[in-house]
Amino acid sequence: MPPLFRLIPPLIFLLTTVTSHLCPPFTTTTPPYPFSTTPGSGHPSFQITCHPPPLSATITINNHHFSLLTYDPTTPTLSLFPHPTPTPTTTKCTTTTTTIPTQPINLSHSPFKPTDSFCSRLSYITPCNPPTTTTLPNCTHCPYLCKITKTPLHLINSCGSHPPPQLTHEGCQPDILGFLDSFLRFGIQVEYQQQDSYFTTCKSCKSLNGTCGYNSTHPNKPFLCLQTTNFKTQKPVHTKRNIRIAMMSLATLVLCMLLIILFTYISRTKKLSPVQDPAVVYLHRHRSASLLPPVYTFEELQQATNNFDPVHKIGDGGFGSVFVGHFEQQNRVFAIKFLHKQNPTSNSVSMKSFCNEILILSSLNHPNLVKLHGYCSDPRGLLLVYEYVPNGTLSDHLHVHRKTCLPWHVRLDIALQIAVAIEYLHFSVVPPIVHRDITSNNIFADKDMRVKVGDFGLSRLLDPGCVWTGPQGTPGYLDPDYYRSFRLTEKSDIYSFGVVLLELVTGMKAVDVNRDKREMTLADMAVGKIQMGLLAEVIDPRLATVDGGAVAAVAELSFRCVAADRDDRPDAKEVVAELRRIKGRTRGGGGGGGSAVGMIRAANSNSVVPDGGPVM
Ligand SMILES: *[C@@H]1O[C@H](CO)[C@@H](O)[C@H](O)[C@H]1NC(C)=O
Ligand SMILES: *[C@@H]1O[C@H](CO)[C@@H](O)[C@H](O)[C@H]1NC(C)=O
Ligand SMILES: *[C@@H]1O[C@H](CO)[C@@H](O)[C@H](O)[C@H]1NC(C)=O
Ligand SMILES: *[C@@H]1O[C@H](CO)[C@@H](O)[C@H](O)[C@H]1NC(C)=O
Repeated sequence: MPPLFRLIPPLIFLLTTVTSHLCPPFTTTTPPYPFSTTPGSGHPSFQITCHPPPLSATITINNHHFSLLTYDPTTPTLSLFPHPTPTPTTTKCTTTTTTIPTQPINLSHSPFKPTDSFCSRLSYITPCNPPTTTTLPNCTHCPYLCKITKTPLHLINSCGSHPPPQLTHEGCQPDILGFLDSFLRFGIQVEYQQQDSYFTTCKSCKSLNGTCGYNSTHPNKPFLCLQTTNFKTQKPVHTKRNIRIAMMSLATLVLCMLLIILFTYISRTKKLSPVQDPAVVYLHRHRSASLLPPVYTFEELQQATNNFDPVHKIGDGGFGSVFVGHFEQQNRVFAIKFLHKQNPTSNSVSMKSFCNEILILSSLNHPNLVKLHGYCSDPRGLLLVYEYVPNGTLSDHLHVHRKTCLPWHVRLDIALQIAVAIEYLHFSVVPPIVHRDITSNNIFADKDMRVKVGDFGLSRLLDPGCVWTGPQGTPGYLDPDYYRSFRLTEKSDIYSFGVVLLELVTGMKAVDVNRDKREMTLADMAVGKIQMGLLAEVIDPRLATVDGGAVAAVAELSFRCVAADRDDRPDAKEVVAELRRIKGRTRGGGGGGGSAVGMIRAANSNSVVPDGGPVM
């Protein structure tokens, strides 16, 4: 057989190795340091086992086995999916859930620790008290499971420093174990410090062109710097195995060279783009200058706000601080939002999505949406320039200036205007925009009490990869269904809108820590009262003189909007139609102030109300 032919099988072997032995979530065939698949190389705590796709690499930490769902080298974080631990046959503890371990996940004395955001998400999960489910484990047999059904935070001992918050805004979970099970399927986010001696010694080893490893047979697993030159000292022996090794290194070399060529090509094309602001370049490539929103320089905005003087600050939103800016040349006043820095190393990808969002948001035009007028993208910060709506927020009018009571017809008008704005975002914009943060603090009023909804699209803008970064939305307004799916949808906006409707009807705040624990969020409280037929107790006493039927009908609509199940909530179109109907009836008289009970019955006859509807 000619020698060339003998080389083909190892080559095929190598190619299949390269293509099939991808090790998700790692994108390279050999995971980067500190991870390693061969004992003796890498870091002893980061030994992983690779599985071909669609499975992912597994890691063992303190005898707990996990799959790696995601790996982010920049932070650096991993998300770990716990494997079912085989239940010792001696215990009689049986559960139906698969991800919940039968003992606390103990990450101490390992380089890993759960991220703060994971711990706080975990701490926000509250079981119902008393428990309403029948699937609770027997506490005699399952002391640990029993413990976590009371305090889910005990799942992971290293989350201990996160006490459960006093505010339980998203409602309790009736099936706590089932919920935790699905929660864990999204992975446990852990971070690791690169500070132990393996990392520090590895740096100097790498500068000597060595490969970092450790002595896997030594009990203390001391660090070893493996010199690649060691291979040269081996005497060449002509065996099949050595040819295979030689072929593999050759192919690796070729692969590396291809990669290097690719990388230089990519970086070359990147360098070709002008040194100009990438945002401006991108925008001008995609839309003619006349259609673009005005771009402001950082200096212009600095000047308009007297260098972001706190005196000019008019608010602190979830996404940034708002300043009022006076532009002398145009003799106009704008609101300028200085976005909090999310990611200081914003690369061209996030810049691209930032620009796309600006294009979308600035092209929206609706009388009930705060107009995005321009923007500024500068290394010192991202700023958005908005139309200035001078007369405070809905929250101010309802909860701060309580002496000037908003009359009922104004409240109904406000509700309809907000609903129309949401309908526009959900049904007229392609693709639809989920606002994600509708609160009475984001609704701005002008002097005639016409309202405009602000801050739409912001959370998406700051979250370009659509990576889940932490609880979004505002406590008291956040869709409880979010904790099941970790997605905010149009129906999440409807939930938040329902809470605003409740504020309009009751005059109470969305969250009030002075209220009893179970009534701290307005949605919980109002739903409880309405279900008990005590609607009259929560209606704003200052509305006592108005048409009770219309108030009750709006209360009923808000009740449907804050339904726990997304599918039970109406969509924005239905909400607008219902509010128009209520408004028309109020104005048209139709028997004037009919009794609230009669009106509610009328409202019920053509709408679905859980539990037979409110009774007064
Ligand atoms: C966690 O594991 C470490 C080392 O494996 C051990 O020393 C520690 O006692 C464990 N902690 C708990 C609470 O089990
Ligand atoms: C738990 O198990 C013990 C012993 O098997 C039994 O006596 C007890 O009734 C069980 N408790 C419940 C709530 O089922
Ligand atoms: C490491 O390798 C680089 C390039 O291969 C070489 O320039 C450098 O001298 C080497 N350093 C040492 C300490 O061998
Ligand atoms: C690794 O440790 C074993 C046992 O302590 C020792 O015999 C061996 O020489 C060590 N190997 C290296 C390369 O240091």
